[in-house]
Amino acid sequence: MSDNQLANKSQAWSALFSEPMSDLVKRYTASVGFDQRLWRADIAGSLAHAEMLAAQGILSTEDHAAIQRGLGEIAAEIEAGQFEWKLDLEDVHLNIEARLTERVGIAGKRLHTGRSRNDQVATDVRLWLRGEIDEIGGLLKALQTVMVEKASEHADVILPGFTHLQVAQPVSFGHHLLAYVEMFARDAERMGDTRKRVNRLPLGAAALAGTSYPLDRERVAKTLGMEGVCQNSLDAVSDRDFAIEFSSAATLVMLHISRLSEELILWMSQNFGFIALPDAFCTGSSIMPQKKNPDVPELARGKTGRVVGHLVGLVTLMKGQPLAYNKDNQEDKEPLFDTVDTLKDTLRIFADMLAGLTVKPEAMRAAALKGHATATDLADYLVKKGVAFRDAHEVVAHAVKTATAKGVDLAALTLEELKTFDARVEADVFDVLSLEGSLNARNVLGGTAPAQVRAQVARHRARLV
Ligand code: ARG
Repeated sequence: MSDNQLANKSQAWSALFSEPMSDLVKRYTASVGFDQRLWRADIAGSLAHAEMLAAQGILSTEDHAAIQRGLGEIAAEIEAGQFEWKLDLEDVHLNIEARLTERVGIAGKRLHTGRSRNDQVATDVRLWLRGEIDEIGGLLKALQTVMVEKASEHADVILPGFTHLQVAQPVSFGHHLLAYVEMFARDAERMGDTRKRVNRLPLGAAALAGTSYPLDRERVAKTLGMEGVCQNSLDAVSDRDFAIEFSSAATLVMLHISRLSEELILWMSQNFGFIALPDAFCTGSSIMPQKKNPDVPELARGKTGRVVGHLVGLVTLMKGQPLAYNKDNQEDKEPLFDTVDTLKDTLRIFADMLAGLTVKPEAMRAAALKGHATATDLADYLVKKGVAFRDAHEVVAHAVKTATAKGVDLAALTLEELKTFDARVEADVFDVLSLEGSLNARNVLGGTAPAQVRAQVARHRARLV
C-alpha cells in the first residue's frame, strides 16, 4: 500500500477491504475528533518504543533517528496548530503514524513493529491521565491552602453547628472550613494512590497476546517514568479499571465540592446571611434588580451530576466486555476528558472564590444564639455537679421549654430561674452557657475549641508546604 493510500480509510487496513465506508460510519467509528488530545502521550510512547526497538536491534540506528526527527517535527506541527487531523485516519494514533511515514518514509512504517493500537491507546491514556492527576494534586493543594488560611483567620468566629439542619451546638467557622480541608486531603491521598495503578505500562502486550519480537518492556517503562509493567497482556489491553478508579476519586472530590456549594448557597441566602461571595463569582437577574445569585457554587453542584454520570458510564462500559480489547473502550475517553476538565476548572474557581469570601460573624453569632445551642453544655455542667447524664438531659429539656416559652435563649435565663430546675446551678453556669464557653470546653483532639483549630491549622500548614 502506498503512503497516500493510507489517507483513504477504507483502504487503510489491508487489501481485504473492498467496500468504502459511508461518511456516517466513518464519523461514528472515528475518535480523532476527541482523542487528538492524547497526542503528546502518543508521541512520548512512540519515542520510547522506538528507542527500545533500536536498543534491541529490531530497528536500525538510521530508522530510529528518522523516527525521532519525524516525531519531533510532528509535535512542532501540532503545537503550532498546523497539523491536519483527518477523519479518514480514524484516531490520533493512525493520524500521527501516517504523517510520520509521509515525512520520513519507510522508517515510519517500521515504528509499529511489535505494537498494536490496543496497547498503544492504553499506554497513551495512562500517560495522559498521570499528568492530569499530578495537576489535580496541585490544585487540591492550592484549594486546601486557601481554606486553611481562611480557617486560621476565623478560628474564633462562631456559627451554629447543625444536625438535621437544626441548630445543634456552636462551632468555630475555622473548624467548619477545616472539615472540608480533611475531605480534600483524603481526595489528594486517593488521587496519589490511584496514580500508582495508572502509572503502569501496557506497551508490549501488542494486540492481546504479547509479541514475538524480543521487546524490553522494562526499558520502555523506565523511559516513560512508569512504576511497572502490566504483567498480563490480555489484562493490559482491555483493562480500564484505572480510569474507573480515577473517575471515582474525581467523583468524591466533586461530591465534597458539591456539599460545600450547598452550604455556601444556604449561607449566602438572606435567611442565613453568614457570608458574601465575591461579585465576580455571582450573577444578577435579568428581571429582579435586587438579586445576586451564587451561580458558581450552584453550577458546581450541578456539574457534580455529570461527573457522577461519567463514573456510571465508565463502569457500565466495562461490565459486559469479554477479554481482551473491544472497541467499546474507545468510549472511555470523552467521559474521562470531561471529568478532568470539569474537576480542574472547579478546583481553580473554588480556590479563587474562597480566597475572596467575606464572613459575617454577627449574623453567625445571632443564629447560634437562636436554637439553645448550649443546652448540651448545661447538661454537661450538671453532670460535673454530680447529676447523672440522663437526669441532666431531662432537667435541661425543662429549662429549654421555659426559655422557648419566654422567647429567649437558654443563656438569657437568670440564675434564679435556672436554679428552679436544679439547685446545684451556680453563677459559674454562665461560663458554659456562653458560645465562647461552649467552644472552649471542646478542647479535645479534633474538637471545635479555637485552640484545637489553631493546632490543626499548624498541622495542615506543615503538611501543605
Ligand atoms: N481509537 C481506539 C481506541 O480508542 C484505538 C484502539 C483501536 N484498536 C482496534 N483494535 N480497533 O480504543
